[in-house]
Amino acid sequence: MISVPLDKKRHDRKRFDCAVPALKNYLQMMANQQSNKDNTRTFVLEDVKNPNFIIGYYTLTMSTLDLSSLPSALQKKHQNANSAGLIARLAVDKRYKKEGFGEWLLIDALKKLLNTSDSVAFPLIVVDAKDGASDFYKKFGFVAFFDEENKLFITVESVRKSFKVSSEHF
Ligand SMILES: CC(C)(COP(=O)(O)OP(=O)(O)OC[C@H]1O[C@@H](n2cnc3c(N)ncnc32)[C@H](O)[C@@H]1OP(=O)(O)O)[C@@H](O)C(=O)NCCC(=O)NCCS
Repeated sequence: MISVPLDKKRHDRKRFDCAVPALKNYLQMMANQQSNKDNTRTFVLEDVKNPNFIIGYYTLTMSTLDLSSLPSALQKKHQNANSAGLIARLAVDKRYKKEGFGEWLLIDALKKLLNTSDSVAFPLIVVDAKDGASDFYKKFGFVAFFDEENKLFITVESVRKSFKVSSEHF
């Protein structure tokens, strides 16, 4: 499996339905425009049998880091940092749910951000978990910010450790 940048000529965005209107609408109406403006990047996982069908997608960008919402040890360690990598959206089409694609997309997004952090350093990866998906992210080591149950983070250091190989190899 491989993720590819969203291509509006190739991918059938209208068919995509993850049952969360905000995430569906973003893919259909915003993702391509936002990428053209260099605001976000969206990657899709294609169905190998029908490559124009989108199994799932994620959108990456950067976010301002609010140190005050972090545990004190992390506040101290990262006091000079001001940015985090952001998984702004991640969704799987309802026809492909519970087959491991959400996990695959999350790992793929983390690999991309880890690779990026080798060139443009940032200490945390943040995710906006919509519609009760925070437990999905907690399964993979994300922790909620103090003040926002649906906004979670993981350190780049722990992502690097969990992949157990240098980010140079991705
Ligand atoms: C959340 C979502 C991405 C999961 O995708 P999926 O392909 O169904 O998930 P997977 O099959 O890869 O599941 C991987 C593991 O996470 C668990 N999981 C899946 N969704 C979960 C949820 N909402 N809460 C807790 N755990 C969840 C699965 O049970 C599985 O655990 P297991 O390995 O112990 O069996 C998908 O349900 C989705 O797109 N939801 C709507 C959009 C959304 O809420 N996106 C996230 C916020 S932006």
